[in-house]
Amino acid sequence: MRVCFVCLGNICRSPTAEGVFVQLVADAGLSERIVIDSAGTGHWHIGELPDPRTIAAAARRGITLTHRARQFLPADLERFDLVLAMDRSNLAALRRMAHGRTAPDIRLLRSFDPASDPEAQVPDPYAGDEDGFERVLDLCERACRGLLAHVRERLR
Ligand code: 4NP
Repeated sequence: MRVCFVCLGNICRSPTAEGVFVQLVADAGLSERIVIDSAGTGHWHIGELPDPRTIAAAARRGITLTHRARQFLPADLERFDLVLAMDRSNLAALRRMAHGRTAPDIRLLRSFDPASDPEAQVPDPYAGDEDGFERVLDLCERACRGLLAHVRERLR
């Protein structure tokens, strides 16, 4: 099972979701069975580590982020089974890219949080304050727990 989290820059939200999910999957003993990655629909930060505020917020919860930003490319549509968009704008960009191709399941990450609206987004924290980064972690933790339950079902 191959899962990719996607945001705009790949330096705030999607590396956070990746780090949260890596930890949940490891705790569940499923690391051998699930490949986890992240990417951005934009190209501006290719090769960069996550934003220092993203790294610091994750570190406060015991999560080390070492991902290097990369852009989500059409070939990725064939490499992943499940692609999780952080917001509706990135979801639309992914669906445009997938149009007319054999594509994986592409969904909003928060649609896996049973307590949230199926259309709910993970807000972009880039231009905001520290609280935004904590909120991204809270939202990713809740949604990734639901995602893990879904992935477990698909692995059966
Ligand atoms: P992300 O946040 O999509 O969560 O990684 C952003 C990071 C950088 C930019 C936008 C969003 N940017 O415009 O450079």
